[in-house]
Amino acid sequence: MEIHKVGVIGCGLMGAGIAQTCVQAGYTTIVREVDQSFLDKGTARIYDAWQTMERKGKITAEQVESYRAQLQGTVTLTDLADCDLVIEAILENIEEKLRLFPVLDRMLAPSALILSNTSSLSVTQMGAVTKRPEKICGLHFFNPAPVMKLVEIVKTISTAEETIETIKQFALSLGKTPVLAKDTAGFIVNFLLIPYLLAAIRMLENGIASRDDIDTAMKLGCGYPMGPFTLLDYVGLDTTLWAAEAIYEEYKDPLYTPPPLLRRMVTSGLYGRKSGRGFYDYQKDK
Ligand code: CAA
Ligand code: NAD
Repeated sequence: MEIHKVGVIGCGLMGAGIAQTCVQAGYTTIVREVDQSFLDKGTARIYDAWQTMERKGKITAEQVESYRAQLQGTVTLTDLADCDLVIEAILENIEEKLRLFPVLDRMLAPSALILSNTSSLSVTQMGAVTKRPEKICGLHFFNPAPVMKLVEIVKTISTAEETIETIKQFALSLGKTPVLAKDTAGFIVNFLLIPYLLAAIRMLENGIASRDDIDTAMKLGCGYPMGPFTLLDYVGLDTTLWAAEAIYEEYKDPLYTPPPLLRRMVTSGLYGRKSGRGFYDYQKDK
């Protein structure tokens, strides 16, 4: 199957990065947000990234112009009706996703593929509310999507082999390395990463070490590019909480129980970088 036009739903942290990646790989891309202010914020992040790349001499001014021409933003979902492939990157909330998938199913051509960038939710459930479950799978990018080399392709019981093959080729065309996982909560990476992040929060709650020392220890002791608190703020504490809850819901393994501090920080709107404060205060740093 030929993919010419890609739709991305949600232009937050991940949607913006995914749209940027698709444009850079040569796809005509349209990204949808719920309102103009969210759309402007998301597309501004993409334009900033291209400007930085131009400043560093990685791309030319002409390339930036052509990238900008290849990217369309919209708040109208039906503007995505002629897409060959749509990637959903809205909030990590199953009710929201289950509301969106049947609408996409009705709106898109029968041949179109619908992918979810969910971190942990059931892609099978998303497929089951459509009439095309064979054309639905997960395509899980990592933050920052334009930089991280991995994507997880998540296969449900109903996903057709042909869909998986098309998405493998699509992932390669984006310059990513695909790995295949069954549709189980957390897939590969989050199944392993979330307990590590939650354990760091428990360590802080228990006063075993300070935020900064835990971050330094994992950076210098294990060679990780970011310590767990920097990474939690980078990923978003809200997304981490919802992912932990979804994996806990599936396995009831106490490893995935969200620590009280995480819940309270999310309740207080301390989502990390995207809200200006999480474990670190980004307003103060500025
Ligand atoms: N668009 C384009 N380029 C970007 C970018 C973006 N949004 N963000 C960073 N870059 C580029 C920078 O311009 C820089 O390019 P050059 O080397 O050519 O100058 C390069 O990426 C490295 O960036 P920096 O120099 O700013 O900083 P760094 O070397 O510390 O790298 C990082 C930044 C890539 C984010 C690195 O710190 C890292 O790998 N961190 C860990 C990220 C991680 O673990 N992500 C996965 C989270 S889990 C997840 O995503 C799954 C989930 O479901 C929750
Ligand atoms: P985010 O909060 O930064 O962005 C979500 C965006 O979706 C918001 O801007 C919101 O306005 C928009 N949105 C909500 N409903 C919408 C709709 N019906 N149509 C269009 N836009 C809508 O969240 P995020 O971190 O980008 O996460 C998005 C998805 O990607 C989640 O499923 C998350 O689990 C997954 N994910 C996140 C990360 C990460 O590191 N944050 C990594 C991989 C996957």
